[in-house]
Amino acid sequence: MANVALRIDGRAVSVPSGTTVMDAARELGIEIPALCHDKSLPVASACRLCIVEVGGSSKLQTSCSLLARDGMDIRTGTDRIVRYRRSILQFLLDSHPNDCLTCDKAGECLLQKYAWQYGVAFREHDGVRRPEHVDLSSPYIVKDDSKCILCGKCVRVCYQVEEERQVLAFAGRGYGTRIVADDDLTLEASKCVSCNRCVSVCPVGALTDRRAARKGRTWDLAKEVKHCRVCDYGCSFEVLKKNGKAVAVRALPPGPGRPLCLKGRLTTELLNVPEPDAPYRKLGGKFQKASWAKVLGLQKLLDKLNEADAKPEK
Ligand code: SF4
Ligand code: SF4
Ligand code: SF4
Ligand code: FES
Repeated sequence: MANVALRIDGRAVSVPSGTTVMDAARELGIEIPALCHDKSLPVASACRLCIVEVGGSSKLQTSCSLLARDGMDIRTGTDRIVRYRRSILQFLLDSHPNDCLTCDKAGECLLQKYAWQYGVAFREHDGVRRPEHVDLSSPYIVKDDSKCILCGKCVRVCYQVEEERQVLAFAGRGYGTRIVADDDLTLEASKCVSCNRCVSVCPVGALTDRRAARKGRTWDLAKEVKHCRVCDYGCSFEVLKKNGKAVAVRALPPGPGRPLCLKGRLTTELLNVPEPDAPYRKLGGKFQKASWAKVLGLQKLLDKLNEADAKPEK
């Protein structure tokens, strides 16, 4: 593939044609802030935080969707860009709960990270914030719409796996826009399979892993990556350890060809966490506490093994 040569913040870089300006900048070690972009998902250009200036044009353009071209002269951090980014972040914080002190995402939240980086703080105001719609119906996911920034990553990642997922979608209009499961059902009543793909890509605390909740602050936890052995996909999980003891397992972003599933996550948890929480399975649209053998689909095998062991030796 032919290369294209451009300049970013005065530095020359050459990248294969088809590379975005965001990725070309990364080649130079320049991190452009991004809330809605993920390399393994279709481009949405929803948050506009990644805007850059292109020499010869007065229009600010989103670097996650802009392809690098020969001779481009890109600026990633001019005063004008910083002003725009600050106003986007301020707009997001103005409609966001001031909840970082107790939010399970604090320390990993991209909104929090960029707010700090650009010096933007929560403000007192009499206007509205996003209304609370907390869905606690699932033992695997906490969905808190008041923290959602509508980046759409969860919708795109859920949609990537065949029909049995494709659960999440945008609903409503304007300020009332929300992410809903199926026809605005709870996660329990919807066809959600608790794979936690959406949780693994959410940049803020709108979708979090319920089994990892309150197990420790991110800065107090050591993280060890494990690859699932249940099937050939080998999806990646993260074992969270506090004071050397494994306390929870979280899904890592799926990546191409790695679907993620509840069975793989729970198996990884059972194998690595000494005192795992009780598992649940969904039956007829209701979550029920169940034995590990049932949840992991091993009950029949166990019965057979017991039967075989009980037979007198010939
Ligand atoms: S989602 Fe991020 S910004 Fe919002 S309360 Fe949680 S840590 Fe703070
Ligand atoms: S857990 Fe999986 S199936 Fe359920 S909403 Fe998230 S991505 Fe979709
Ligand atoms: S729930 Fe998270 S991933 Fe989904 S749109 Fe909201 S902020 Fe983005
Ligand atoms: S990261 Fe480019 S528009 Fe959101």
